[in-house]
Amino acid sequence: MRILSGIQPSGRLHVGNYFGMMDPAIHLQDDGEAFYFIADYHSLTTVHSPEELRENVHNVAVDFLACGLDPIKATFFRQSDVPAVAELSWLLSTVTPMGLLERCHSYKDKTARGHEATHGLFAYPVLMAADILIYDSDIVPVGEDQKQHLEVTRDIALKFNNRFGEVLVIPKPKIREVNAKVPGLDGKKMSKSYGNTLEIFGDEKATRKKIMSIVTDSTPVEAPKDPADSIIMDLYRLVASDAEIATMENDFKTGGCGYGDFKKRLFSAYWEFFKPMRERREELLADPGQVDKILRQGASRARETAAKTMERVRKACGIQ
Ligand code: ADP
Ligand code: TRP
Repeated sequence: MRILSGIQPSGRLHVGNYFGMMDPAIHLQDDGEAFYFIADYHSLTTVHSPEELRENVHNVAVDFLACGLDPIKATFFRQSDVPAVAELSWLLSTVTPMGLLERCHSYKDKTARGHEATHGLFAYPVLMAADILIYDSDIVPVGEDQKQHLEVTRDIALKFNNRFGEVLVIPKPKIREVNAKVPGLDGKKMSKSYGNTLEIFGDEKATRKKIMSIVTDSTPVEAPKDPADSIIMDLYRLVASDAEIATMENDFKTGGCGYGDFKKRLFSAYWEFFKPMRERREELLADPGQVDKILRQGASRARETAAKTMERVRKACGIQ
């Protein structure tokens, strides 16, 4: 079984990325042949500073490795180290109906938020389909917001196979229902674009401040509160132990504890949860050469696999 996923280097990784995509991907690396990459071609649709892009790529690599991606089990690489994916993207675009792309939310959302309406942004899902199909991927772990892109990938693969024969493997999405949509500090989906994130490796003081500033209702300290209707509780469930969760739920229901106290508990649990990963990250930061080497080795393995698919694809459509 081949597992594939990608993440854009468009900013610092956050708790939503961790629970929606990184943690499921890290678990899956034991179940099959995993390919995980940093989608730098995709990021060019929104990141326009070369220095920023390079820095983001490095940070994502360090952070993903620190969180447990094992480069021996999984092939970890940079998307642009396999340029054949851009060729496949073109070939796929010749079977992709305009209507399919016109229906995609992500283009509409991003242009509505002020991103330039470029062809790259519009064709984003075709490149994503190429990413998935070039490695004959069976399973693609992602958060809920990527579901539509996976459906588009399946449609494009079916169209291609319809025209040229059974050339491409049809992938399945793998969306872990529980953490598919982690809320941000304001209750909307946690996302870089909403400025409501809790970074995985945020600075201690700044993160504490962010958590302490979560907006709550005006229920008095002594009154009972609803644990099913609280962002603090939702985030706490991700990072606290079962016993801690049970205690806090009980304290919500019985009253007598204020939101300030709950926020302090959330910060402590968050800080503890990511502690071993922070330590691993320090080691990686001290040895940048090691990270570059991992990505280079990953790139060479990824290119080999991609080359086999491309040979099949080129033959099938008559350009070889
Ligand atoms: P952002 O919305 O911050 O720009 P990305 O679009 O780069 O995040 O998402 C990278 C990966 O993390 C994708 O697989 C996406 O589904 C997942 N992801 C992002 N935000 C969340 C969230 N709040 N909950 C669950 N998964 C998420
Ligand atoms: N679009 C994905 C995101 O924003 C990143 C991505 C690019 C991806 N190519 C992919 C994810 C292929 C899974 C498979 O998060």
